[in-house]
Amino acid sequence: MTIEAVNKYLSNSPRTTLLRFATAGSVDDGKSTLIGRLLLDTKNIFEDTLSSLESDSKKTGQPIDLAFLTDGLLAEREQKITIDVAYRYFTSPKRKFILADNPGHEQYTRNMATGASTVDAALLLIDASREITAQTRRHAFVLSLMGIKHILVVINKMDAVEYSEESYNRFVFEVKALAQRMSISDLQFVPVSALCGDNIVERSQKMPWYTGPTVLSYLENIYIEGDRNLVDFRFPVQRVSVDKTQKRSLQGQVVSGVVKKGDTLVVLPGEQEVVVKNIFLYQTEFNHAFSGQSVSLSLDRDVDVSRGSLLVHKHNLPHQVDEVEAMIVWLDPKALDLKKSYIFKNAHQEIKGQVTALRYKVNIDTLHKQETDQFSINDIGRITFQAQKTICIDYYRKNKRTGSFILIDPETYKTMAAGMVVDRVPLKSEAVSSNIFVKSGKTFWLTGLSGSGKSSISDQAIGLLKDHGHPFVALDGDHVRNGLCKDLGFSNIDRFENIRRVAEVAKLFNEAGQNVLATFVSPTKDIRDMARSIISSEKFKEIFVDAPVAICEKRDVKGLYKKARRGEVKEFTGISAPFELPLKPDLHLKTDTNDLPASVEQLVNYIITELKGSTKD
Ligand code: ADX
Repeated sequence: MTIEAVNKYLSNSPRTTLLRFATAGSVDDGKSTLIGRLLLDTKNIFEDTLSSLESDSKKTGQPIDLAFLTDGLLAEREQKITIDVAYRYFTSPKRKFILADNPGHEQYTRNMATGASTVDAALLLIDASREITAQTRRHAFVLSLMGIKHILVVINKMDAVEYSEESYNRFVFEVKALAQRMSISDLQFVPVSALCGDNIVERSQKMPWYTGPTVLSYLENIYIEGDRNLVDFRFPVQRVSVDKTQKRSLQGQVVSGVVKKGDTLVVLPGEQEVVVKNIFLYQTEFNHAFSGQSVSLSLDRDVDVSRGSLLVHKHNLPHQVDEVEAMIVWLDPKALDLKKSYIFKNAHQEIKGQVTALRYKVNIDTLHKQETDQFSINDIGRITFQAQKTICIDYYRKNKRTGSFILIDPETYKTMAAGMVVDRVPLKSEAVSSNIFVKSGKTFWLTGLSGSGKSSISDQAIGLLKDHGHPFVALDGDHVRNGLCKDLGFSNIDRFENIRRVAEVAKLFNEAGQNVLATFVSPTKDIRDMARSIISSEKFKEIFVDAPVAICEKRDVKGLYKKARRGEVKEFTGISAPFELPLKPDLHLKTDTNDLPASVEQLVNYIITELKGSTKD
């Protein structure tokens, strides 16, 4: 099926019953089987196809291989030059669906990105019998970058893990942690076996613990009508036709917004004003046209307009610039060449220019920005593009169609990159990217003797930090030892295990963007170093809460020093077990010479400065 045919189908279908979605995930996650299963169970497969498959499978004694149904499309994909996406469509009683189906190989991030650029929702497949792959992380990131609002994480091959709720929960937890560092507004999960048909169309009997919708029911019920841009009218002219009476009409798709008969429009480039006389959808005349419809417009007068012109409302103009800031995904094995010209192509224009700056690249494992002097295949990052002529663009977050583009090699006409225009003003643009890169949190680790004041300082500091807009999670020795580490004592081995668990918890919080204040005796250098290495040294700050044993013993808030002296508490730090002084703490609080408010203030100031430093670009 050609893209034109799909567009026709789109523009003729009442939008309320139509959902466009894409699939993403690693190559072996069972995408073809899932699609086959969706088609089979919604009875969208022609009987003859089915019976030939059945007879094939009888011959081989294997169950029907649903992947056959979709892999036939590979040939179609291979014929396409710039867009290797196969479109399938199917229906259920509630909705019509168009599926942009993409091959899952790593080098096909290209296709995933292209396919996903026009969809309302995406299914991200994960194989429950394997670990989450780098490619899955990359696809999730590209989906979030492309502003796909609805993502269903399909945890497939549940039959291979005995339909275990625990396995499912582990993936949900992992993906949620990942997604918190991206900007995804609607993230749902479903456990399935595409092979056996569990939770695709039919509800599974084997996973009674799952009470959410099946894949089909999710697709049937997502509310997408509110996602459309009905505000900014953009009409890229695809064709100008002249009829027998020499009357001209402009054909194209309303890519966003609404246009009405009698509206005053501006033709870009240039500033010519025109009034809409008629709107035709095929042979029928309408008073208005909406986003998604392919229409023909006739104007009150003849103006200089051609393929590539953009019609917009007079008071709602796009940006007209010659320099564009963008996030791109590099799609070609040939790396980006700063000396070479590329064609910037989007909904309505093809303009030559050059990439003049590589701002940064995104490390797909950590989602951190990193400096770079080259972009190669699958790299994602931010660039500046200098055009030879004025380009009309919108920011991608405002208008996906006029804010997205591809870069084409002018010699081979190959698509080299897919991009999204971000705000040009540096400060604002960083605000946009901070949605994508939620900063990871830090752990401030207070070490010191029992009674040195760790918990009292931490309690008060947390209140003040919250007032400053920095919420913190408290992890405290006494609390943890009542729950998470209830089974542990105070031998050296048990203290190691205690701190190991706490550090792992702190690490999870940090990865989810949450700051942690930890208050643990953590008496030896080895123990503290272990915590640092689990949490990572750039996120771990060591704070020594320092008071001599004699002072702590005098305070003896919990009466433990007395007990330790009497031998009733064994291996008590400072009395019968060692405390190694931190040699180079990041902050040193002396609670014998400073009172509590002074120490709290010192800590809060230090933390605020540290957090500020880490949010700088
Ligand atoms: S750590 O050494 O493993 O870091 P943690 O901070 O979790 O210790 O717990 C210390 C708290 O447990 C102290 O504040 C104290 O109230 C209590 N405690 C009970 N027995 C001991 C002990 N033998 N040594 C140190 N603290 C103890």
